[in-house]
Parts: sequence; structure tokens; C-alpha cells
Amino acid sequence: VSGEREASGVAGVPSPVRLSGDGRTVHILDQTLLPALETILDLGSPAGVAEAIRALRVRGAPAIGISAAYAVAIGFAPEESGLPTRVDREWARGRFQELATLLAGTRPTAVNLRWALDRMGRALETALGDPADPTAADLHRVLVAEARAIHGEDARACSAIGRLGSDLLPRPTDRGELRVMTICNAGALATGGIGTALAPVYHRHARGEPVAVLAPETRPLLQGARLTAWELSRAGVPVTVLTDSAVGAAMALGRVDVVVVGADRIAANGDVANKIGTYPLSVLAATHDIPFYVAAPTSTFDPDCPSGGEIPIEERSGEEVRPSPDPSAPGAGPTVWNPAFDVTPRERVTAYITEVGIARSPEELGGEP
Ligand code: MRU
Repeated sequence: VSGEREASGVAGVPSPVRLSGDGRTVHILDQTLLPALETILDLGSPAGVAEAIRALRVRGAPAIGISAAYAVAIGFAPEESGLPTRVDREWARGRFQELATLLAGTRPTAVNLRWALDRMGRALETALGDPADPTAADLHRVLVAEARAIHGEDARACSAIGRLGSDLLPRPTDRGELRVMTICNAGALATGGIGTALAPVYHRHARGEPVAVLAPETRPLLQGARLTAWELSRAGVPVTVLTDSAVGAAMALGRVDVVVVGADRIAANGDVANKIGTYPLSVLAATHDIPFYVAAPTSTFDPDCPSGGEIPIEERSGEEVRPSPDPSAPGAGPTVWNPAFDVTPRERVTAYITEVGIARSPEELGGEP
């Protein structure tokens, strides 16, 4: 644990993940402890980063992709891997496979994780294709550069989503402020930059245009109440937390102008996997004639996944939901079903806000995103 912090792009909000200057340590803000404690973990091994992803110390689709890329890079630090000075190519490929399997197995739904690992694998192959035998230090340098590039590109994608989304969102008419409902946390804490769903909000706020956010708690891990509320408050954006069961009432009472959510994977047909509770939000939004936008970088689009039915949905431990055991009622207690994500069908999505443009369907983004 260290006190080392780096700004995320949103004033007062630390970056969820960063790599040390020597490319040997991944610094992760432990989001399981927020908002009570702001603790940065110094992780020197890929296994430590894998544990942090699995336990949601770092979470949010883009942030876990970046973390996995950094984990691969530190896994090739010469001391860490024990690589000889000149690298045996098969050894390097085996090492990468071992790391990719470890990291890909942490969380199944967000495609950004697999996307980032694929990029790291391609960077490694390019380095191994050099006719001169690479050294361990060469490979480490290449992988650090690729992981940092993934992080930097995500930061730029978030800014572009903010700019395009801010132009797209409705202008408040009779009221003073635009009221945006989101779910979970798709802000700076979930990405390499200023967020996806929250990026247009930050953009409006920075331009001095009044905007307020409604943040459903997001049971069972409370990313809305703990994380979205925290980062927006840090940034000075007004935020109201409500229970997940209050979202319908909020819409019916005319308290919501627009819904903007993030995504963990967008299938080729446009179906969207995102935090559990997103699908009901989309149905309610349609019922109340409220636009429903999905904000995501193109790294979240999965052209290999035909539709939402093929997206693997993570099911987490019942312990996240089950109340503490009641000593007066012995027995196994209730069974729990705890899916972490649901699928919103494409028909419910008004538009996708990406860094390359606004689209009514993935096809509109022009070929493979
Ligand atoms: O389980 P989490 O906290 O990783 O879930 C995160 C979400 O569902 C986000 O909406 C999504 O990853 C997009 S983050 C920009």
C-alpha cells in the first residue's frame, strides 16, 4: 500500500490504475474500500492484479482491460519472469499464454479484457518476429509501451465520448438542469479517462451547463451509491442516490430527462450487456419515452459475438446478496441467484455514443469497430 496517486482526468478523483515508471508495479485504487478509504495497492505480480480484478478492487470494463494489459507487462519484467538475456521464443509464447489464461479467467463478461489481452499478444508476436533475437528487456519495453498505449487511447476515447455525448444529450427546457439517470459506475473510476456514461456529464459541467445525476444504488455491491456518488461529488456535480426499486417512480414522476449507461460488451447485433438492472431501466425508459443511450468505446464492441444470447454473463457468489446468517434459524438459508450483468436488446437503445461517432446500430459505425 502506498500513497502514490495520479489524477484520472476528473478533478479530485484518482486514477483507478496506473503503472510505475519502471514498469514493474501496478498501482490500483482499491474500490472495495471506497468511499471510506482511499487506498492504493502496489501490486508486483500478475497474480496480484488478477486477484484485484476478480475481487472488483478494480472494475469497469475499460479499467479491467487496462489492468490486465499492465499485468502482462509486469509479468515480463526481467526479474519477475526469470527470462534469460536472449529470449527463447517458445518460452515467451508459453509465458504469455499462462498470463492470458490467468487474466482472462477473472471476469467473463467485459470483452475489453480479452480485447486488451489480444492486443498484448499481437505486440509480443511483432517483437518476436524481429529477425534479431530479442532480449528480455526488449520484450518488457514493448509490452509496457503497448499497455500504456491502451491506457492512453482509452483516455482519449472517453474524452471524445464526452464531447459527442454532450452535444447529443437533450438541452434542458423549462427546468434549469439536465437530469441524467445512470446505473452502476461508468465514470473515471471505471476507465482510463473521464468515464463513458459520465463523460458527457463532466463535459456539460465543465462548460458551466447545469447537469445533475440520479444514481441508483446498484445492488448488491453498490457501485452507484459508493462510487458514482463519490466521484461526482468530488467533481462538484450534483448527484442523488436512489434505491434500485425507485427508478420507475423517478421516471413516472418526470424526474429523468435521459438515461445514459455504460457497457461491458456490445454484440454484433447491438444487444448490450451491462450491470444487472440496466435492462429494466431500458424498458422503463421506453415506457416513459425517455431516450436511452449506451456510451462505450469501440473496444467494448464484440464483432465475434452475434447477439446478447451468446454473451457470457458472470454469476457471482451468493454471499454478496445473502443477509448475515440468522442464528435462530439454523440451516443452509435461501439459495441466491446473483447475476452481475443483464442484456438489453438493441431495440431499447436510442443510440450508441462511441469515440468514433454516434450510431443507431453497430453497423452504422462502419465495418468492424
Ligand atoms: O461489475 P462492475 O462494477 O465491473 O460493472 C461495471 C459496469 O457494469 C459498467 O457499467 C461497465 O463496465 C462500463 S464501465 C465504463
